[in-house]
Amino acid sequence: MADAWAATLLTLFPEMFPGSLGQSLAGKALDEGTWRLDVQDIRAEAVDRHGSVDDEPFGGGAGMVMRPDIVDSALRIAVNPVDDKRPIIYLTPRGRPLDQARVRDLADGPGVILLCGRYEGVDQRVLDAWQAEEVSVGDYVLSGGEPAALVLLDAVIRLLPGVMGAVESLSEESFERGLLEYPHYTRPADWVDRQGQERKVPEILTSGHHGRISEWRKTQAEQATRERRPDLWQHYVAKKDEGQRR
Ligand code: ADE
Repeated sequence: MADAWAATLLTLFPEMFPGSLGQSLAGKALDEGTWRLDVQDIRAEAVDRHGSVDDEPFGGGAGMVMRPDIVDSALRIAVNPVDDKRPIIYLTPRGRPLDQARVRDLADGPGVILLCGRYEGVDQRVLDAWQAEEVSVGDYVLSGGEPAALVLLDAVIRLLPGVMGAVESLSEESFERGLLEYPHYTRPADWVDRQGQERKVPEILTSGHHGRISEWRKTQAEQATRERRPDLWQHYVAKKDEGQRR
């Protein structure tokens, strides 16, 4: 059997893991050995009796910065210098935004080494020395990299072979075709909301016309993308035009 997809996670809060990744699809896949998670406590690398891992920022300013020597020691333990091909990712709001394409690449690779920072961040020199890729999960600031690591891993693990049943539902979902997904409906077909308003399922969906349903869904996906995500929409339109010119 091929080696399982392997995540090594460096953190000051090892109790946060596996957290949500121990549940549902990811949890089942973890139990089955589809992927593995090694959590490493950065504080174990502290060299003084206070266990200090951070210090004041050079140049002044608020907060504390994680020391390069401590983080370096943790990375030396995490990374096998002989044959570790896994990228080192540092989670930070300064990073390149995570997208489905990067998630897919990570799922196709051997795994990932994730560095979670707290306080104001990690000394830049150790990130440079290890050529860490800086990744953000969105334009907002979390209290640390840990929830961002959970987000990244969740997105990757569901793509690992055998984790999700229906492969078709993957290719139809948001972002896989450059569009947000169409809306979903299920039984009951007639439903009355709390204001007494009757809310019927769009008729087309119960018509049995697969071609027309497909068209309707595409229109819905396009409309949602145009309204909610002009950035994605621009990209989609440009690609469509390119396809027509060829
Ligand atoms: N750490 C704090 N905020 C973050 C974010 N938005 N993405 C990744 N890591 C973070």
